[in-house]
Amino acid sequence: MSGLSVKHLLGIKYITKEDIELIFQTADNFKQVINRPIKKVPSLRDITIANLFFENSTRTKLSFELAEKRLSADVINFSASASSVTKGETLLDTVNNILAMKVDMVVMRHPLPGAGQFLAKHINAVIVNAGDGTHEHPTQGLLDAYSIREKYGEVAGKKVVIVGDILHSRVALSNIFTLHKLGAEVRVCGPATLIPKHIESLGVTYEPNLIKALEWCDVANMLRIQMERQDVKYFPSLREYSLQYGLNKNILDGLNKKISVMHPGPINRGVEVTSDVADSEQSMILDQVENGVAIRMAVIYLLAGKIEQES
Ligand code: CP
Repeated sequence: MSGLSVKHLLGIKYITKEDIELIFQTADNFKQVINRPIKKVPSLRDITIANLFFENSTRTKLSFELAEKRLSADVINFSASASSVTKGETLLDTVNNILAMKVDMVVMRHPLPGAGQFLAKHINAVIVNAGDGTHEHPTQGLLDAYSIREKYGEVAGKKVVIVGDILHSRVALSNIFTLHKLGAEVRVCGPATLIPKHIESLGVTYEPNLIKALEWCDVANMLRIQMERQDVKYFPSLREYSLQYGLNKNILDGLNKKISVMHPGPINRGVEVTSDVADSEQSMILDQVENGVAIRMAVIYLLAGKIEQES
């Protein structure tokens, strides 16, 4: 295969199984690179990348920046709260001003679903979606599936339950698309109020009971409760939520098999998972973070190939 089938990474929905496999094979090589004493390669010396974060981030922002620097790209960073967006500048004006500085690629996190698609229609740079509202978080879906592949050898045939706030979660949607394209089975679990009405149309089943869902799965992906996106109350209290849907060590140890536990972060310790679960040997949370750098290096490297082809 010569390269990705897309110019931008806007969502997993828009890429193929072959694209995902190519990203994983490329990430395998970069994972070796970042574990060497010299962690840098000169691949993208002529490329300039702007990281535009209109919403808070720790893992994704740092991981993209590190991935870009490991590839020797020139990197500029932008945070909406410290920019002229606070003076009323539009998204398009902001981005066009940044592009006038000869930027080749834009990595963007934005609170509005579809912000990446909007940019891709209006500007000529390559766009990477680093999370757009409640829509998609494609590199998170990729790094989660890559971590499952690394742990179990393959994703096909694995059973993954995604627990919690599915309604507001871009991570859930990108995980569902990635896992299905790779042949895994996906079930969701959580309060009915946090499950989208037509979730079955995505080929996903719903299990309201946490223990039953955990007994079924190989991997449980425990999503963060996104209080910042909840304009009404979806459950009585965080304490009530954690009693019904929180994963603690007693539950984990009492299951009929040894499962793996994932969480995209940031964790609300004691709400989605207790500390003894988050820090247990069954937790893949820090593996996910480590793999995020290799996956983002792979995505940027492969999309940069598109820039070179066009110029
Ligand atoms: N997983 C994730 O997107 O984390 P951040 O919000 O810290 O980037």
